[in-house]
Amino acid sequence: MGVPIIIDCDPGHDDALAIMLAAGDPAVDLLAITTVAGNQTLEKTTLNARRVCTVAGITDVPVAAGCDRPLVAPLRTAGDVHGESGLDGPRFPEPTVDAVPEHAVELMRRLLTEHPEPVTLVPTAPLTNIALLLTRHPEVRGRIREIVLMGGSTERGNRTPAAEFNVHVDPEAADIVFRSGVPVTMCGLNVTHQALATPDVLARLEGLGTELGRTCVELMTFFAGTYRRLYGFTAPPLHDPVAVARVLDPAIVHCVEAGVTVELRGEYTRGATVVDLHGYLGHPPNARVALTLDRDLFWDRLINAVATLGARANP
Ligand code: BDR
Ligand code: CA
Repeated sequence: MGVPIIIDCDPGHDDALAIMLAAGDPAVDLLAITTVAGNQTLEKTTLNARRVCTVAGITDVPVAAGCDRPLVAPLRTAGDVHGESGLDGPRFPEPTVDAVPEHAVELMRRLLTEHPEPVTLVPTAPLTNIALLLTRHPEVRGRIREIVLMGGSTERGNRTPAAEFNVHVDPEAADIVFRSGVPVTMCGLNVTHQALATPDVLARLEGLGTELGRTCVELMTFFAGTYRRLYGFTAPPLHDPVAVARVLDPAIVHCVEAGVTVELRGEYTRGATVVDLHGYLGHPPNARVALTLDRDLFWDRLINAVATLGARANP
């Protein structure tokens, strides 16, 4: 069995690929998919998680809905990036995978308590569910092997000049996570912008010759349009799968230890992650911070996972 993980997500084009990577790669054992409001409302992100599971043939992993808004801030979604549905592009069939009735935070608590080994949490969304888990159930902290998250940046933001989307949406939750004392690995924009789905990647996905491969191409094509229009990128960055890849094989994502503080008050910088790479503040490091991606290893793992799931879904 692989490393036990739970993905906490807000699908989201790149979340969709993160789910597929986790479900299709044998190095991890995906215990659950939990959802939170972020890229779209909770209702939409949960529907999208069910859609992804349906088209990818992921039928044995519970999907549970969590928080429908940030801890303190009002909810800000990203329809301009991910579309009205949160997963615009492909036409999805009616999902056949249902969500379980348990709240995401309760499901995480239960799985952490019951699983024989400590579990790795992989949040690829605002950290609301994770912060609630840590504060409401502090007894499970020792059952978390680590939190490997997509969020923040060592550089600039993508939602404000200073803040990355996942941290920007719920800065108070991110602050709780970074101060929790649980081992945290941060995969921020500085590394996820190295995971660009260039035309050769799309050609490899198309070349798989499966329905799922084509769905991935349609997702990436929509995402490419957004990133071209909003940010002037020539290819879209697949942020969220980078966090999963770090768990699959730490060699794919190189990290250094550093102090990370979430700015909660700045008039122009609220939601920024202040990453002290050179130890100016004299605080002990509280996170591993991802700096570089081995692109070849990353894309090989992602495309293999989509191939595995696609072959399983349509044998
Ligand atoms: C993050 O924001 C979301 O739009 C993406 O799904 C990713 O998790 C990137 O800033
Ligand atoms: Ca996401």
